[in-house]
Amino acid sequence: MIPQETVDKILEAARIEEVVGDFVNLKRRGTSLIGLCPFHNEKTPSFNVSVSKGIYKCFGCGMGGDSVRFIMDHEKAAYPDALRFLANKYGIEIAEVENTPEEQAVNNRRESLYIVSAYAAKFFHQQMLETEEGNSVGLSYFRERGFREDIIKKFELGYSPDSWAALSEKAVAEGFNIQFLEETGLTIRKDKDKIYDRFRGRVMFPIHSFTGRVIGFGGRTLKTDKAVPKYVNSPESDIYHKSNVLYGLYFAKKAMRDEDNCYLVEGYADVLSVNQAGVENVVASSGTSLTVEQIRLIGRFTKNITILYDGDEAGIKASLRGLDMILEEGLNVKVVLFADGHDPDSYVQKFGSAAFKNYINQNQKDFILFKTSVLLKDAGTDPIKKAGMIREVVESIAKIPDSIKASVFIRECSSLLQIEERSLISELNKMRMGKVKKENFAPRQEEMPPDDLFGDEPPQQGIDSDEHQEKEIARLLLNYGHELVHWDGITDTYIAPYVISNLSDVTFDNAECSLIVAEYKSKLEEGELPSVQDFIKHSNRKLADLAISLVSSPYQLSENWFAKRKIYVKDEKENLRSTILGGIFHLKKRKVDHILKNIRDEIQTEQNEENQAILMRRYLQVKEVEKGISQFLGSVIVK
Ligand code: CTP
Ligand code: MN
Repeated sequence: MIPQETVDKILEAARIEEVVGDFVNLKRRGTSLIGLCPFHNEKTPSFNVSVSKGIYKCFGCGMGGDSVRFIMDHEKAAYPDALRFLANKYGIEIAEVENTPEEQAVNNRRESLYIVSAYAAKFFHQQMLETEEGNSVGLSYFRERGFREDIIKKFELGYSPDSWAALSEKAVAEGFNIQFLEETGLTIRKDKDKIYDRFRGRVMFPIHSFTGRVIGFGGRTLKTDKAVPKYVNSPESDIYHKSNVLYGLYFAKKAMRDEDNCYLVEGYADVLSVNQAGVENVVASSGTSLTVEQIRLIGRFTKNITILYDGDEAGIKASLRGLDMILEEGLNVKVVLFADGHDPDSYVQKFGSAAFKNYINQNQKDFILFKTSVLLKDAGTDPIKKAGMIREVVESIAKIPDSIKASVFIRECSSLLQIEERSLISELNKMRMGKVKKENFAPRQEEMPPDDLFGDEPPQQGIDSDEHQEKEIARLLLNYGHELVHWDGITDTYIAPYVISNLSDVTFDNAECSLIVAEYKSKLEEGELPSVQDFIKHSNRKLADLAISLVSSPYQLSENWFAKRKIYVKDEKENLRSTILGGIFHLKKRKVDHILKNIRDEIQTEQNEENQAILMRRYLQVKEVEKGISQFLGSVIVK
């Protein structure tokens, strides 16, 4: 657990425009900043940041919150991890307080694995830059391959000395527990008292998590001996799961968003060289075939993947099927082939950055069309092979969730394959039917994307619900609660206590509104005026959500939302009295209307005449109140 003082320190330091600004390109508009929402696809910006309130809100998809929430949503991080992320950004040290012993044990263990990995990365890096062996073997190797100093530093490249246990012994001597060295695979235990380093005499590529922590390593041998594996990698551990790690993602994610594209390459060297060429949106699958988790990881930052292949025919054909998975995830895939035995690394090192970028632009092909032409070439004139390949192409198209996109491909493939569009469509439909049937029998139990969870639902107010009126009260409290009143007859009171005291007879049905009002009430009773921040940063997430949307002023934030509500914040501020009274009395009227309806219902079911008369009298009394409210609304309230 992070102590509250530290949390406060982090919240104070983490300015919303800086935190969001790391991921979203913000432009000033009026009093707020605006940009393209990172949580959903959009062409016109509806993502707003209010610097004064310290919050963001997207009027397209409804996501909103403070700095911590932004990191949680954006990085899919848990609350404490988001805090740590921000603490790291602002150089705030976290001294954690103790959790339950079990929690602490787990956290400590994972944390120890991170720490020992970071230690090892630093060790390898220093060995390379500061020792003679490191210089002459490791550094000179990277130099020969054309890697600049800044890239070597950025990726924390290193060298693991060619001795049995240089790292293990030093780490243990400095107090590291050998258990953690073993669990991360840095140290291998041969028998009871014989240990040695996994990466001996190799140049080292630390692998970072997408939040930038070292979680594993790849080590390349410098020997040309074919019997020695070229790369040795860290084994799976509690902090390193190969299937959801992409090499370079931490350094690429900002550019992936900015460029709205991700280059996918095969190896460590490719990531480095492409980066060095000034193309930062590049990640590597590190030699393994791409996993769904990796694709989703990319999909958080961009929906466009460009795969950079070295042009080995067999390899291409083998991987074609795997790429359908990317289509299934709804991402767009392009492919660039490097010919003459080049991979992205060798190409860019040989021809330079401009030629490289140019080559990509000239040679990128859409995956489906690429696949079609590869298979077409392969089938030649063999009619059976050709029929088979058509099926395969249509199979890929059938994986595309967007049917408009799919139909565009059908058209293009029909001309490539010289087959009537109609027959491709009928083939496609057959496959889709098959897919639907299969899914009906075995429904996919996948988690919904979080976008759907937080989307602003259209307001649906039933006849019985007073949600709108209740939310209006909460909105007025949050927006104007601090303002001092100078109205006829009532002066020198804040709006919050005025509203609360006027609603003492009203019960709120909506859980969050009820909580907001209750918190106002109890704080006011203690002589305190609650602040908007108390609600925006409230630990009850639903409550915080509501507060955020209520204080995101529609006037500044969304013309559209505003028009829908048919009210004008400017007017509302100028005529605060009628706004406040309107809020109070509209809600009161709703509540009174309910009471009236209930009494009417009771009268109808009541058999006893005496009771009926009592109910009738009550009805008339309440009706008087209702009339008073209506008159008041009619005369005082302009809207
Ligand atoms: N790889 C691996 N183990 C191997 C060979 C390859 O893990 N024995 C992974 C590495 O992540 C490597 C990637 O597959 O980066 C691509 O392999 P390759 O093209 O052979 O390596 P390069 O990255 O091109 O390395 P270099 O240019 O240094 O030969
Ligand atoms: Mn290579």
